[in-house]
Amino acid sequence: MNPILPGAPWLIAHRSMLGINRPYKVTLNGQDYVLWQNDRGEIFALNNVCPHMQAPLSDGWICQKRGTITCPFHALEFDGEGRLYQESKQQTQPIAQPLKLIVKRDCIWSYGDCESRMAIPEIVEQIASEYDFVGIAGEKTIQGDFLSTWLINSDFNHQNGTHRELFQIVQNQMTEFAQNGFWYKVKQESIRADNSLGELLLNPVLLTIPKVLKSTVEYFFPSVLVLYAETGVGPFAQVVVQYPQQQNQTKIYELIFAKLKPTWVKLLLRQSMLKAIDVIVEQDTTAIETRYPRQPGKLKLPGEEVMSYAEKLYHEW
Ligand code: FES
Ligand SMILES: [Fe+2]
Repeated sequence: MNPILPGAPWLIAHRSMLGINRPYKVTLNGQDYVLWQNDRGEIFALNNVCPHMQAPLSDGWICQKRGTITCPFHALEFDGEGRLYQESKQQTQPIAQPLKLIVKRDCIWSYGDCESRMAIPEIVEQIASEYDFVGIAGEKTIQGDFLSTWLINSDFNHQNGTHRELFQIVQNQMTEFAQNGFWYKVKQESIRADNSLGELLLNPVLLTIPKVLKSTVEYFFPSVLVLYAETGVGPFAQVVVQYPQQQNQTKIYELIFAKLKPTWVKLLLRQSMLKAIDVIVEQDTTAIETRYPRQPGKLKLPGEEVMSYAEKLYHEW
């Protein structure tokens, strides 16, 4: 496939997703890669196609001692630079193709096989230095194109339908929209009705969301967006990560950060918080996957200029 947004930096994984000495497969812009992390925290990545007879290396295994990945087909071994490992002689030429990674703290970025056209946004590191990491949520592949997936997160009316039951939002108002190139920011205020007892039992984290929810969403097109909110138990930052896997497949996951005081609140709410995010991503996925093909709109809701702005960035890339 022709890469989508070639030259954009993609946050292909968070360190916690990799495990130790386990192959982890990533699909970016139609190409499969295999990543692995050793017990010293070093991370390697190769094109997933074995140069011998094209088996998927990610189905193989890692030799802890030699730091190699073994192909599942004929058990040839390659090191992190793609060189064939042979006990008797030292190979110097890579024959499996390495993927260039840029590791920043726990974030693993890559431009795939494209030349960089944009610097990696520093926002995730900044958040990681200020907040506690709660965990990963909502990790999945959406059967939808990159633009539709990005746009749902720039759509400030969809919580009224898509997330109606979860948040019980009765009124939503955008109070600010600022933009500067690939960066844009929206502030909003949402008024919520009460959740039912059943909903609260299912998602206790709803108890921490105030009746008037003020949030700010900051976009770093096309790599990540961050939602900041003040909850009853402390500030919260939700980093939404997306990247194109195929023309009509988009990977999404969220890095959840918070400053929850005291610590027992964090322990208590962690699971419930991550579960609520899973539900939100699932609801967005249904909205994206059940839509009919796009047509020029015949009506517009207030606030849709944010989506138009994102669409313009995409088409003018
Ligand atoms: S296909 Fe990989 S070792 Fe043969
Ligand atoms: Fe949503």
